Amino acid sequence: MAHELIEKITEFENLSSKAIQNSSTLADLQDLRVKFLGKKGELTQILKTLGKLSPDERKEIGAFANQTKDKLSGIFDSQEIELKKAEVNRLIASQKQDVTLNAYPYAQGSKHPLIQVYDLSVKIFRELGFDIAEGPEIETDYYNFEALNIPANHPARDMQDTFYTAEGGVLRTHTSPVQIHVMEEQKPPIAMVAPGVVYRCDSDQTHTPMFHQIEALLVDKGIHFGHLKAVVQEFLRLVFERDLQTRFRPSFFPFTEPSAEVDMTCVFCNGDGCRVCKKTGWLEIMGCGMVDPAVFKHVNIDSEVYSGFAFGAGLERITMLKYGINDLRLFFENDVRFLNQF
Ligand code: PHE
Repeated sequence: MAHELIEKITEFENLSSKAIQNSSTLADLQDLRVKFLGKKGELTQILKTLGKLSPDERKEIGAFANQTKDKLSGIFDSQEIELKKAEVNRLIASQKQDVTLNAYPYAQGSKHPLIQVYDLSVKIFRELGFDIAEGPEIETDYYNFEALNIPANHPARDMQDTFYTAEGGVLRTHTSPVQIHVMEEQKPPIAMVAPGVVYRCDSDQTHTPMFHQIEALLVDKGIHFGHLKAVVQEFLRLVFERDLQTRFRPSFFPFTEPSAEVDMTCVFCNGDGCRVCKKTGWLEIMGCGMVDPAVFKHVNIDSEVYSGFAFGAGLERITMLKYGINDLRLFFENDVRFLNQF
């Protein structure tokens, strides 16, 4: 009887351990655990017949059955670990991410083309040894006109060109008043550059009421027109990133004497003549000149000892020519299809 039971238990162990190792899901495994080792499970059923045995035999078979139970529990546990591992691997495989795929195309911001040219200009002048200067956008008549030798009846003061504030202030019509602020505060040698916003009461295809200029001023002993030409030439070469010819046409500004208008080789036709340069091969790019002694007088700089040059250029114009932008209004519309191109 006892012998038979041992055999039965051994057979049960063999069959159930195979079944456990063949189980393929955690749910199946749980079912088997109930089926083999549960309260109403197969092993319990076998042990129910134990009552018919002698106490010694019962003890022996009981111990054997417990060993079997422990063995099977161990097999259950390791199978459970295997199945859990397999489950994790299956999940990893099914949710595998292809890290080489392109990311979702997030819109990336970029600097406005005008600001790119603004920053580039500042960098160029810094590297040439100029300091960056600033002045107020709301000026007084004195700084915007008077100290720059623009007399009271000068057409530039016309209500049609200049915005006045209710308090009698002037929205600066150019960056030249920064020259006055700097020369009031610093004694020569002075090398400054002032980029900034200016305002003119003007609005059409090629004019906006607000635009940007960059002003340069260099004052020292012995400064002459050759220095002006060299700095202008170098600035244009660096900002347009190509070799350019320049030409200085005599002109007039109340605050410079002599004054000139600078033309540079047309960047669209390389000087051959095209629609943009009106077949001349040249593009007008800035105003400049030697600081007028009348200006020095306002800031107490002795024009017998010192001389200087100044120039002012429109940043929108430089940007349009650099990138081939043909409509000024594009700068202010902030259409991302336009801005994305830079
Ligand atoms: N301020 C002048 C303008 O706005 C430009 C200029 C600056 C000319 C400096 C000469 C010297 O047109």
